[in-house]
Amino acid sequence: MPTNKDFSPEILDKLNALQKKYAAMGQDISSYLDGLLYADFLTYWDYINLDTLLNLQQPITPYPDEKVFIIYHQITELYFKLCLHEFDRVAQSVEAGELTPAFLLERVRRINRYFEALTSSFDIMVDGMDAAEFLKFRMSLLPASGFQSAQYRKIEICSTSIDRIAHKNHRDKFSNPTIDDLPKVFKHLYWREGASELKTGTKTLTLKQFEKKYDSDLLEMAEEYFSANIRSAAASLTFSGDDKLKDELKHAMRWLDVNVNINWTLAHYKSAVRYLQRDPEDIAATGGTNWQKYLPPRFQKRIFFPELWSEQELEDWGKSWVKKEIFGINI
Ligand code: HEM
Repeated sequence: MPTNKDFSPEILDKLNALQKKYAAMGQDISSYLDGLLYADFLTYWDYINLDTLLNLQQPITPYPDEKVFIIYHQITELYFKLCLHEFDRVAQSVEAGELTPAFLLERVRRINRYFEALTSSFDIMVDGMDAAEFLKFRMSLLPASGFQSAQYRKIEICSTSIDRIAHKNHRDKFSNPTIDDLPKVFKHLYWREGASELKTGTKTLTLKQFEKKYDSDLLEMAEEYFSANIRSAAASLTFSGDDKLKDELKHAMRWLDVNVNINWTLAHYKSAVRYLQRDPEDIAATGGTNWQKYLPPRFQKRIFFPELWSEQELEDWGKSWVKKEIFGINI
């Protein structure tokens, strides 16, 4: 039996606290101490599942750059997961009736930092990649495409009300939807018009596969986030005269709109242009998709928080960046 001589008062305090903790749950502390005695010391590699992580890169062709392509997609998905973790914290806070402007601001700022990292690193992957190799290994992974990233769609669902991600031809008709309208709006989300054959407009297998696998999950998520998406959550807040906080949140939300709907989108579009640019007639002739009309933000005008932008800013959405980055015109 331990005595006061063997243990410092701090250790005895901790043992007492542990005793209480386990007793409160009807558990015997001594069994848990046994577990502690026999357990191995934790290692870094086990803690972060390093072996599993480093075994998840399995190219299907002999081209070395395919590994770079896979790893960069995985890195992006992990950043997307970090974003979704922040959205989840907002949703939990809304559900508990505890959301504050300061908490929402910190979550949005974090998501912004993740997207900034992604946008600025796009070139790191793209610049190094051999174009000829890319075009070869890409054929082996068809019809798989980043288009099928469900986390990307989830980020949109968590950011704004569902009408804002409806196709632009349907957006006005669906503004201010009720929760009962969700299934109807959901059928007209903008991405259902993407990944379609340029020649005939029919859905590609890429899109069909995606809808089959994720439609029900995504609709469920849209229901969960009906009041907890960033746009609705922000609208429900009161600022009690704190104009500085209100301005900071507005700024962070505008930045989120730019990060997701212009900066990342255009960095990605730039890669598609660089590797896949061909005459639309050639694309149509080879069964290619409508990506040239679909990917640029100035065509889609996906905007999470239209109330935070002026008429002119809404009108010019994505234009100056396209001119500068894609066509090299400085305005
Ligand atoms: C050389 C690099 C890349 C090229 C050439 C490329 C090409 C494309 C193309 C052509 C599309 C349109 C879908 C279609 O018409 O089939 C697309 C969509 C998409 N890709 Fe990529 N991609 C690249 C890298 C990435 C990376 C690293 C990610 C990260 C996950 C990604 C995620 C996406 C997403 C989320 C979409 C859907 C975008 C939307 O619906 O607006 N792509 N990509």
